[in-house]
Amino acid sequence: MIAALKAAHIIALSIWCAGLILLPILLHIYGRRPEMRSQAGFTEFRWLTHYSYIAVITPAAVIAVSVGTVLIFALEVLNAWMLAKLIAVAGMVLLHAWMGHLIVQAGEGRGDFHLPMAGLSLLALVPLIGLVLWLVLAKPSLEELIALLPSILQEPRGNPIPARFNPL
Ligand code: HEM
Repeated sequence: MIAALKAAHIIALSIWCAGLILLPILLHIYGRRPEMRSQAGFTEFRWLTHYSYIAVITPAAVIAVSVGTVLIFALEVLNAWMLAKLIAVAGMVLLHAWMGHLIVQAGEGRGDFHLPMAGLSLLALVPLIGLVLWLVLAKPSLEELIALLPSILQEPRGNPIPARFNPL
């Protein structure tokens, strides 16, 4: 069962990561060709970016994150490297959302829309993907990094939940 979940996780995240690398290239290079100024060229660009985003890349991201969440509970992995991995994955999710915003603006925005330098996002994206892979494969203890945190973040304070947040 765990092997099947890990296989699904890895297949989905491979598609997600490949798509996240492809989208900035599509937006930055493909979307700036002179052919984009014709109706046929624009329709092709719109179709390619829209359907790859909504039908392939976003479903792959949802599957990767959902199966990963199930794996956390199935394997009871709640280590520092996993928390660090989740922070890095949050960066990937933000870039994913930004790509979606650019695709909507490029396809449905009114007037002249000048695509920003979407390719520059690769400078953040590729190191983020590398960091996530390193964290999950090397599973470092991160003791030295944790020791740098303020003491208030290192141990439970023993305070009760404020009454206004307690649902019971
Ligand atoms: C919210 C998103 C994610 C969650 C909750 C999650 C969670 C997990 C968990 C619990 C495992 C099992 C770890 C173990 O065997 O000890 C795992 C394995 C793995 N994850 Fe993720 N993951 C997420 C996203 C990603 C992403 C974005 C990548 C790559 C860029 C990734 C790469 C991997 C790899 C390569 C493994 C296999 C590691 C091994 O078997 O040694 N994960 N993930």
